[in-house]
Amino acid sequence: MFRIALERPQDVVPREALLDQAFGADRHNRTVYRLREGIAPVPALSHVALIDGEFAGSLRFWPIEVDGAKKPILLGPLAVSPERRGQAIGIALVRNGLRVARKHGHDIVLVVGDPPYYQRFGFLPAGSWNLTLPGPVDAARFQIRHLGRGKPPKAVTGLVRRAEAFAVAGRRQGD
Ligand SMILES: CC(C)(COP(=O)(O)OP(=O)(O)OC[C@H]1O[C@@H](n2cnc3c(N)ncnc32)[C@H](O)[C@@H]1OP(=O)(O)O)[C@@H](O)C(=O)NCCC(=O)NCCS
Repeated sequence: MFRIALERPQDVVPREALLDQAFGADRHNRTVYRLREGIAPVPALSHVALIDGEFAGSLRFWPIEVDGAKKPILLGPLAVSPERRGQAIGIALVRNGLRVARKHGHDIVLVVGDPPYYQRFGFLPAGSWNLTLPGPVDAARFQIRHLGRGKPPKAVTGLVRRAEAFAVAGRRQGD
């Protein structure tokens, strides 16, 4: 059985290896990394899945800026170790992350990911909100989740920007 915990220092190396394997070593070229690089992830939303104390998966969230949103965040990257997939670890990481995010007052969560996977958590296609990312993405994969009641307000719109208030000088972030 797995458990979800806050990320520990010893999880960084296996997390990076897993992300390289899951998304490719060139993952930093993806548009979502324009929003992550040089910005610190949200510490309270940096979780791992552990099996007998061993790293089995990771999910972090990044602060972003979006007009009309309160403390908006970008979900991901999410990955589960290949030998541990299909045990609902990914689902548990996302549900836990959204629950903690709501508790911490984040109201809007964006993700670029597989719609069939994220729809189960209440994500909707972001197209109706006229949101744009700072680079090309497959529009069908761009999704939005409101952590308040009902659909995301229509005021949530425009260019999704880097949260420079969380910039980390001299350290590579966004992995
Ligand atoms: C996607 C990933 C995180 C899922 O983790 P997991 O722990 O194996 O998934 P879970 O066991 O929690 O969920 C399994 C369910 O998700 C579905 N699923 C898994 N990957 C999926 C995908 N890419 N798209 C759609 N559905 C997916 C399974 O079919 C299963 O559905 P069911 O409950 O209806 O049977 C994992 O496969 C992974 O790390 N993939 C590589 C990295 C990646 O693609 N991450 C981002 C996802 S957009």
